[in-house]
Amino acid sequence: MKKILILYYSRTGNTEKMANAVAEGAKNDDVEIEISFHIDADNISSFDAIIVGVPTYHHDVPIDFKNLFEEVASKGVNLKGKVGGTFGSYGWSGEAPKLILEVMKNKFEMEIVQPPLLVRYMPDQAALGSCRGLGQKISENLMKKA
Ligand SMILES: Cc1cc2nc3c(=O)[nH]c(=O)nc-3n(C[C@H](O)[C@H](O)[C@H](O)COP(=O)(O)O)c2cc1C
Repeated sequence: MKKILILYYSRTGNTEKMANAVAEGAKNDDVEIEISFHIDADNISSFDAIIVGVPTYHHDVPIDFKNLFEEVASKGVNLKGKVGGTFGSYGWSGEAPKLILEVMKNKFEMEIVQPPLLVRYMPDQAALGSCRGLGQKISENLMKKA
């Protein structure tokens, strides 16, 4: 069974709502989904797809997520070829999901699903539909891989 990690951070619940919808969309009989706000660097490589949800605060990625990817890099954890995607709520600039997707692609050589999904503030029904769509797309990409 393939495993998908949905890892997110959310201070006021907007990105959390997105994370739950991404998980709904990703569901099918052949995948196991873990949704969490924390993962140890050593455990991240046990997943076949990693979807990261991050809101943008102060034009940046939340510090815990920077630290996680620093540690993944310094420990030489291999994420090459894993499927990756990002999403997040934002107010006006929305850099964080783009920054993480860049690191996934350029540093970890993951197979990323473009573009990052950005939703302004609280996701409405249409936005939640897009979140389910992202989850489904990533799940389908994963199924196509040997
Ligand atoms: C102190 C503060 C700083 C913020 N900085 C940014 C920012 O730099 N760029 C942006 O797009 N949104 C910014 N926002 C808006 C948040 O990204 C937005 O409220 C988002 O919905 C929060 O998502 P969450 O509920 O998942 O935490 C900021 C909000 C606060 C309270």
